[in-house]
Amino acid sequence: MNRKKIVAGNWKMNTTVQEGVRLAETLKNNMPALPAGVNVVLGVPYPHLVPVQSAVQGTSIAVAAQNCHQETAGAYTGEVSATMIAGAGISHVILGHSERRQYFGEENTMVSKKTEAALKAGLTVIFCIGEQLDARESNNQESVVADQLTALDILDAAQMQHIILAYEPVWAIGTGKTATATQAQEMHAFIRAELAKKFGNEVAAATSILYGGSCNAGNAAELFAQPDVDGGLIGGASLKAEDFIKIIEARMN
Ligand code: PGA
Repeated sequence: MNRKKIVAGNWKMNTTVQEGVRLAETLKNNMPALPAGVNVVLGVPYPHLVPVQSAVQGTSIAVAAQNCHQETAGAYTGEVSATMIAGAGISHVILGHSERRQYFGEENTMVSKKTEAALKAGLTVIFCIGEQLDARESNNQESVVADQLTALDILDAAQMQHIILAYEPVWAIGTGKTATATQAQEMHAFIRAELAKKFGNEVAAATSILYGGSCNAGNAAELFAQPDVDGGLIGGASLKAEDFIKIIEARMN
């Protein structure tokens, strides 16, 4: 299996530009050299994109935006297009995060359009999915995730090379309540099976699926040991260089 192992940070709406650049530099200077096949991505606020990208220039750390608009340009005050992000030298974008879905009304159709726009601009997409607590409690998590995955139906196998999936159960995000390694593995295997149905076994086997939701230095190794967990999308713990480096190290083993 040659799919990439990935540790991605999601800084959300945290840090000033100066603090963000300092965090990126601390990571750069203290991180172990990444073996081939292990990637690190930093998901940062818009004003941080270019300065953080400059700070990590020459390393294998990639930078991601946390959202983009689905149109290329136009009268959309306050929005930023995928073309603009790519044009600024940024390689990745996080789309469909549960906070975007919950607080900014992003539903499947919009996330689908954004994904298409991002791929067209040449970005790699970290595509987030995950169920709310009530869906988990009523054992409907698989149908919720399957429904969210329909946003990928417009893509073909070639485009899927530029998609990284992130399974983030909403009840585990920022709550300190991690999914158990078994729960994560079960869902990741389900997601991979759905990808196989949509795009074939080869695409399913080659797509990295990250776990997110209170993943930290203490539980990362157990989660990453699961056969279908290819890495993590890390919120809170990505803001502390020491913790984030421990998570990267856990993914290198
Ligand atoms: P958390 O956030 O690690 O703070 O739970 C994860 C995410 O929202 O991507």
